[in-house]
Amino acid sequence: MNPTPIIFPLFDNNYFAKAINLSLGYEIGAINYHQFPDEEISANITASLQKREVIFIASLDRPNNKLAALIFAAETARELGATKVGLIAPYLAYMRQDRQFHSGDSVTSKYFAKLISSYFDGLIAIDPHLHRWHSLSDIYTIPTTVIHATNNIADWIKANISNAILIGPDAESSQWVSEIAKIANLPFLILEKVRKGDSLVEISIPQIEKYKNQSPILVDDIISTAATMIKTVGHLKSLDMKPPVCVGVHAIFAGNAYTDLQNAGVEKIITCNTIQHESNGIDLTDIIVKKIDKIFGA
Ligand code: R5P
Repeated sequence: MNPTPIIFPLFDNNYFAKAINLSLGYEIGAINYHQFPDEEISANITASLQKREVIFIASLDRPNNKLAALIFAAETARELGATKVGLIAPYLAYMRQDRQFHSGDSVTSKYFAKLISSYFDGLIAIDPHLHRWHSLSDIYTIPTTVIHATNNIADWIKANISNAILIGPDAESSQWVSEIAKIANLPFLILEKVRKGDSLVEISIPQIEKYKNQSPILVDDIISTAATMIKTVGHLKSLDMKPPVCVGVHAIFAGNAYTDLQNAGVEKIITCNTIQHESNGIDLTDIIVKKIDKIFGA
């Protein structure tokens, strides 16, 4: 019988590794990095990887500081005899640059996909930002599995908020907001957003009057600068709605975004644990456990 894959958490995703180890018995491996005086790094793995499948778990927010470590990990595992090397990215970076927004722009989602596809044999990601790309296979050439946080978010809402109206801040959010609304059997509205700059967005809210006495829940995939949420919170306030609960899948919170959103007049901010953050309140370890065996294809 083949041994189970060995999993390596990178950059603090230990809770996913622990859940997989507890539920499926996969061994957790350790990787050590050494940094030289010139800031180059090298990786070291002592576990025996001969003829074993190896899976790294790495949330790829703030990706530029992580890339060298990630790629050296994958190549070290291969050098040590791993038969396959997979990546679980609870947050998959570089999905938002999915077209040339201005003439001369790079389309980084494509280049990043090419890079990851050349070092890994399979990828699992939770709610990657699929907007103009409809599927990861549009840009990734390895087997990919997308897992959704929708059930877990719907369960949290049902257990914690009564009389809710779900609000998606833009057209992109409609894919998960409508699904969560269906699962939780709640009404939802999708707002119209125009982004005027990295931190500047304008929002309009059709039909909101109808739901004035309900508890608004803003749902988005990524909270980065929080400009999208803050703008929406401001509009709800101007319409005398109750302070909303803000739910995000990926808690990036760049710079002061978390404090800015807290100060915008929200009831609560709650996120999934794809990126470790103090707002994490929705655990997604179970959905990774359920799908990990799909990492190298069906
Ligand atoms: C946009 O396309 C995404 O779905 C989010 O709305 C966006 O990434 C949020 O970014 P920010 O927090 O910077 O407004």
